[in-house]
Amino acid sequence: MKAAIVYYSQTGHTDATAKKLAKLTGAELIRIAPKEEYKVKGLGHFLDGGKATLRKDLPELMPCQFDAAAYDTVIIGTPAWAAGMAAPVRTFLEAQKEALRGKRIALFAGCFVPVGANKAMDKMAELLGATPVARLVVVDGKEEKADFAGFAKAVAE
Ligand SMILES: Cc1cc2nc3c(=O)[nH]c(=O)nc-3n(C[C@H](O)[C@H](O)[C@H](O)COP(=O)(O)O)c2cc1C
Repeated sequence: MKAAIVYYSQTGHTDATAKKLAKLTGAELIRIAPKEEYKVKGLGHFLDGGKATLRKDLPELMPCQFDAAAYDTVIIGTPAWAAGMAAPVRTFLEAQKEALRGKRIALFAGCFVPVGANKAMDKMAELLGATPVARLVVVDGKEEKADFAGFAKAVAE
């Protein structure tokens, strides 16, 4: 199995999750980033990203090395933004959805409360038209409660 973890992280939580999952699965890490980062301070932090998600914005991404043909499994991670995926993840999925068709897809999402992460992953699965082989919710500050091992096992099967 050749797997990649493609993820966006604004403030480090999703990055930490992606790195733990890479250790457990052996998947290659590919971090995506918008050309212009969303605000990370003050009220603008939630408004800026939240609006981008609600508007289904497709921000331009920094160049990244990802060739879907090289992987049979692609794990995609996002922070929950306004109960959806972060806008840079939408750009990635829209650009790659044809190339990702037929791949094994697994999803993970960081959040304050699980409902946000679950809604984000529902929308990602819908956009891809995929049924994920595994999903992982990681709540900020409660990382130890997330079933990393179970996720890695499902991805490996
Ligand atoms: C713009 C914005 C919107 C958010 N919306 C939600 C949400 O709807 N539900 C939720 O549980 N958490 C929400 N969060 C919290 C993030 O999903 C959470 O802190 C995540 O772990 C951040 O990941 P990162 O550090 O990799 O950027 C939001 C955070 C931001 C910045």
